[in-house]
Amino acid sequence: MSGFSIEWLQLREAADRAARDTQLLNKALHWLPENARIVDLGSGTGSTLRALQAHSSKSYRWRLLDIDSQLLAEARRRHAHELPLETLEIDLQQVENLPLQDASLLTASALFDLVSQDFVDRLSARLLTQRSGFYAALNYNGLMHWDPAHPLDAAVTTAFNQDQQRDKGFGPALGPAASDALHRALDRQAYQVDVADSPWRLGPSEEALARELFKGIAAAVTATLGSSTVQTWLDFRLAHAADGHCLVGHQDILALPLNPAY
Ligand SMILES: C[S@@+](CC[C@H](N)C(=O)[O-])C[C@H]1O[C@@H](n2cnc3c(N)ncnc32)[C@H](O)[C@@H]1O
Repeated sequence: MSGFSIEWLQLREAADRAARDTQLLNKALHWLPENARIVDLGSGTGSTLRALQAHSSKSYRWRLLDIDSQLLAEARRRHAHELPLETLEIDLQQVENLPLQDASLLTASALFDLVSQDFVDRLSARLLTQRSGFYAALNYNGLMHWDPAHPLDAAVTTAFNQDQQRDKGFGPALGPAASDALHRALDRQAYQVDVADSPWRLGPSEEALARELFKGIAAAVTATLGSSTVQTWLDFRLAHAADGHCLVGHQDILALPLNPAY
């Protein structure tokens, strides 16, 4: 178990799908040949697979890697009958042992803000050596805007961004610095790198997701701001969950080798 439930991943999937930058997504798909091997890191139940296959008439060979066997079982339940699909329960920290050697494209979503600089360095070294493409969507970038505003919003965002740097199993997490770290690691002569904003824009029709998000943020900042301050903010946010709006900033990054291995 990784702490990411099937229910939470399901709840956020529509917002993630709407947020992905379609230009980058289509550029990746246009670049990929039919039957290409895609390895999805931290796949959960397969949201990246669903997002890419929904935009493409080509079929790909998928390998999903995750530490959580329940999430992988759910991915198999949904897709093993319709697509070439392998799943592997593995800790991504074992970068040198990850089965990436035949991958045309490595993908990930909502993963890289959890990882460390060391992980990015070790993974990008493998990627650059084998000249695979790389597409990582929905990396949180530290921006949150709320409507209606509350006087505690700035303090909550600052405390949340600090909490995002807590170790999530990979060493000190990059949190909001993830996209810049990936850009620096991959912006080499032999790669073309594109970055695009992919914010969640949550309004009344995403009320259920917004409510869970607000509770998650409140839990993350309570140790820093104190429970009564945070409860004031949370009560206000929940009272406006059905009529308010919020923006949560993310970025997508696509790095394509000019001279691919396939
Ligand atoms: C925020 S979820 C994103 C899941 C999926 N990509 C999506 O967008 O729905 C992060 C995923 O990373 C996986 N994960 C976290 N730490 C991991 C590790 N050390 N090794 C492998 N997977 C890990 C979790 O199990 C979870 O599925």
